[in-house]
Amino acid sequence: MQGLRVAIVGAGGIGNYHLSQIKKLEGVEVVGVADIDLGRARDLASKAGGCSAFDAHVAMYDAVKPDAVFVGIPPFAHTDQETAAAERGIHIFVQKPPAATLDKARQVLAVIEKAGVIAAVGFQDRYLDVVAEAKAALAGQRAGLAMGYWMGGMPGVPWWRVRAQSGGQAVEQTIHIFDTARYLFGEVASVQAMASSGLMTDVPGYDVDDASAMTLTFESGLLCTIFSACFLRGGPGKSGLDIYCQDLRIEYALRNNVRLSGPRETREIRHRNDSDGECVRAFTDAVRGGDRAAIRSPYADAVRTLELPLAGQKSAETGAAVRIGQ
Ligand SMILES: NC(=O)c1ccc[n+]([C@@H]2O[C@H](COP(=O)([O-])OP(=O)(O)OC[C@H]3O[C@@H](n4cnc5c(N)ncnc54)[C@H](O)[C@@H]3O)[C@@H](O)[C@H]2O)c1
Repeated sequence: MQGLRVAIVGAGGIGNYHLSQIKKLEGVEVVGVADIDLGRARDLASKAGGCSAFDAHVAMYDAVKPDAVFVGIPPFAHTDQETAAAERGIHIFVQKPPAATLDKARQVLAVIEKAGVIAAVGFQDRYLDVVAEAKAALAGQRAGLAMGYWMGGMPGVPWWRVRAQSGGQAVEQTIHIFDTARYLFGEVASVQAMASSGLMTDVPGYDVDDASAMTLTFESGLLCTIFSACFLRGGPGKSGLDIYCQDLRIEYALRNNVRLSGPRETREIRHRNDSDGECVRAFTDAVRGGDRAAIRSPYADAVRTLELPLAGQKSAETGAAVRIGQ
């Protein structure tokens, strides 16, 4: 395949970002934009050079017949954007979380696998040079304890504060940390969690947790507690992962740097590569006939990550540990 014709579903924040990434790629043309808000679709289509705008994705798929689609819509809004694409042989790049529920994600996965299309999920941190440094440092070491964090303020998009729409912070946002932990440590056996609320009473419609602590027990035996907090206003937050081994401490500051501290020296490595661009390029290269294995977050893998914060929320509700992969 020479030139690649792609479409975009969802013309919000990430839809605009996808366009900026796609524009950096040679031979990739945006041929259609769909959003339930036609004004937004038209605006992004004009930024893309004047392609067609639609208020429905299926109509767009059938009209412009793209090779691939970039889907960037809120978690609750996933209906048939991916399945309708897969059934038409359209390859899929979809933003995290791939769906709001595990049932939905598994149903989409079955259709993707039957159709045989390429499907990648936007867990771009797997392409970070500093995450590769952390992974290399862990080779031959056994991690004994890890802590993950996403502590910050509440994102401004209106659906984020509504549990039924975003899934809550762990599912929508901290999922990046869950995914990086899986990427570094392997599969999880169980999740036990607690959550709290009550600080954000002045935010209309807000019903997500203010904070949670979700402890993953990995199959290796490693314990990793991942903290989420979205109530911060002025104070500084913290996002990343701290990993303790017997002779090594790894501190990964999200998309910024990694610090490796041993008995004799501390080394800090700053993030330098275009990881977001590499994430998108791995997908478009694979669609053009390149190496599918270069996609570090295929849909099937992302479904396994999605299971973790969803299990954490269930555990926080019931008080019981939730086994993974049951
Ligand atoms: N990987 C990352 O770092 C990253 C960063 C930002 C957002 N995201 C993800 O991208 C997704 C969207 O987030 P956003 O910030 O762009 O939200 P947004 O609210 O800015 O934009 C969402 C857009 O989707 C449209 N939409 C809703 N339902 C639709 C439907 N059925 N069909 C077509 N369009 C529909 C809305 O009208 C809106 O224009 C979320 O899942 C979010 O987690 C990922």
